[in-house]
Amino acid sequence: MNWDKIRDYFPITKEYAFFDLANKCGLPTFVTDVIQDYITKQQAFGGDKQEWFETLEEARGNFAKLVNASIDEIAFTKNTSEGLNIAANCLPLKKGDTVLLNENEHPNNVYCWLNLASRGINVKWIPTEIGSITVENIEKMIDDSVKVVSFSSVTYAPGNKNDVKSIVDFCKGRGIYTVVDAVQSVGTMVVDVKKLGMDILCTSGHKSLFTPHGVGVIYINKDLLDDMQPVYVARAGMGMAAQIEYDKIEYKLDQADNARKFEIGNYNYLGITAFNEALKFLLSLGMENVERRILEIYAYLLSELNKMGIEVISPQAGSSRTAILCFKYAKARDLHNYLMNQNVINTLRRDMIRISIGLYNNKQDVDDLVLAIKSYQMKN
Ligand SMILES: Cc1ncc(COP(=O)(O)O)c(C=O)c1O
Repeated sequence: MNWDKIRDYFPITKEYAFFDLANKCGLPTFVTDVIQDYITKQQAFGGDKQEWFETLEEARGNFAKLVNASIDEIAFTKNTSEGLNIAANCLPLKKGDTVLLNENEHPNNVYCWLNLASRGINVKWIPTEIGSITVENIEKMIDDSVKVVSFSSVTYAPGNKNDVKSIVDFCKGRGIYTVVDAVQSVGTMVVDVKKLGMDILCTSGHKSLFTPHGVGVIYINKDLLDDMQPVYVARAGMGMAAQIEYDKIEYKLDQADNARKFEIGNYNYLGITAFNEALKFLLSLGMENVERRILEIYAYLLSELNKMGIEVISPQAGSSRTAILCFKYAKARDLHNYLMNQNVINTLRRDMIRISIGLYNNKQDVDDLVLAIKSYQMKN
């Protein structure tokens, strides 16, 4: 792989050591090219809706390929939160049921479940402090009322990897649905829904899938589709009877027999066109290669931070590493601001500095970060 050439697709790397992919992305040129082309066409003649639909279905297929799903299991959303809300509101839950959540979840995988309180559905917290959830700590919480475990494959901070497969295997035998917030793993790591076996996976395009905000995906295992009833419906989610080219519309609630029944198009065609281009790029690289590259940069970063005696909070053992590395610092906000001023883009999360690595980062970026920390230390 020629990672230098690949880096050139990301203009942001010319000016910044950009370590903020867990938050948002710098768009690559091949994505901005298709956006420009789309806008030019829409400006000139309104654009070609047929072409937009073809691209949308291509994107559905490409996303399915990326995570090893079938196209019937993929629906477009606007972001991870919308997918999680679909899960919370459309799974067949009833009064008295319990949802288990990790104490470390992103708030967007919490509010949608708390919102079920008015239906008598309760949330219970799996105590993990800042660590991962495990089958052992889930097992302690299990009773007959537990119907869902919703958790992220990788937490937003400090970037703990949860062992999705073992949690899913444990829940499957007990009739408990598994909902996975995968926004911090799809695009940076290999994710195979068939191997992992979760019921639902949600993600967004605007981080490691290199798309402007407003495109997300929900994967719903096909064995579950009949059990889930959409809350919102529109023509986009209906079957053939909803065609409007014909004289008469037959108004029957003829929902699509796939995940499309959750779509309430018109769609974000522009965003999905960008998304498709980014997916083609990732597929052409191969997610194994992307993950390997990210972990190579992670290893270098970790060794440099360890040399400096910085307190890394993220798990450091080889198999538990992800694209996210968080570290503590006495005046974390101060350091965060200083690094930003030095063009080292990072985020402050839970009072830690979060460094998130993309496939375009190189060792020079890490050296820039280290140099900036050292210069901060000299000044303070
Ligand atoms: C783990 C996790 N879940 C959910 C979100 C929110 O996703 P969205 O804003 O796309 O709904 C984020 C980040 O913003 C996140 O890191």
